[in-house]
Amino acid sequence: MIKPPFTDDVLLHYISASAADESADLFAAAREVQEKYYGKRVYFRALIEFTNYCENDCYYCGIRKSNGKLKRYRLCMDDILECCREGAALGYKTFVLQGGEDPYFNDERMIEIITAIRRAYPDHAITLSIGERGRASYEAFFAAGANRYLLRHETACDDHYRKLHPPRMSLTERKQCLYDLKNAGYQVGAGFMTGSPFQKPEHLLADLRFLEELQPQMVGIGPFIPQADTPFGGFPAGDLELSLRMIALTRLLLPDALIPATTALGTVSPQGRERGLAAGANVVMPNLSPKSTRRLYALYDNKICIEDAAAECRFCMENRVRSFGFEADMSRGS
Ligand code: 5AD
Ligand code: FES
Repeated sequence: MIKPPFTDDVLLHYISASAADESADLFAAAREVQEKYYGKRVYFRALIEFTNYCENDCYYCGIRKSNGKLKRYRLCMDDILECCREGAALGYKTFVLQGGEDPYFNDERMIEIITAIRRAYPDHAITLSIGERGRASYEAFFAAGANRYLLRHETACDDHYRKLHPPRMSLTERKQCLYDLKNAGYQVGAGFMTGSPFQKPEHLLADLRFLEELQPQMVGIGPFIPQADTPFGGFPAGDLELSLRMIALTRLLLPDALIPATTALGTVSPQGRERGLAAGANVVMPNLSPKSTRRLYALYDNKICIEDAAAECRFCMENRVRSFGFEADMSRGS
């Protein structure tokens, strides 16, 4: 059985382990920890992708500023509130507002949106995922009623970070944002892609060590998937098994973390999300965005669920969760 202490050698061994029986041991150990903390519960969060405009230019991301081929959209306040209404009717207790770094949604507009959702849904959790902002903005969003914030660190090594991002971005700043969010009172989600271009096992080890240091409440992990109109369009997609091993190792290092079985997992393999749950993940984030704009939130190619209505995703995911022996938990699950 795989047990602490998790030395660098042990972690590197499992990061690189490709033998099926070793992965199976790792997944079983992660499941045992997950069972101890969470039983068979899998938390449902409603994802609202409200803008695909982005000022940023990450080399891997399909909604990067320099992608001139993508049709851009923004949801207005009424659209967003309509999504929330539909989500609440479907039983969701968490709304995740995700978008590019869109200057249109300045602090004032974000506060207006958060305030309106908070007023209409006093007991729901509001999660933001809108990238890097200043500490004062994070504090103002929190004061307006936001509770959680997802900001993947993407990679915890400076040299690797520079290979994935344009020169004006820095890992130092990204980490500062994560600490600012924590200090502002949010439950914070960090995370990274597996199999991103130029990634080495040592980088993934650093990702795990950074998670131990930051102690985020949530960790998003998914395979890199190429998007044809980006500089990384020609690189191969990350391997499902590596993602699963990283989920499992994260579960062992942060036993009570909330770890989503991401859409990217489901995109690289038809049962990728279910396998994520079986490797230590305990959250799913079905899409609640309007069908009309969904295909435009094109972080990567062949993204799943772009033809499905909100209710379809909700019940599809519930069936998938159940078929793997888990229970759908619609509570806030903080
Ligand atoms: N493949 C996989 N994940 C991606 N993301 C962005 N682009 C891609 C891609 N091509 C992830 C990033 C980001 C999150 C919203 O989506 O990790 O933080
Ligand atoms: Fe969207 Fe299955 S979760 S169709």
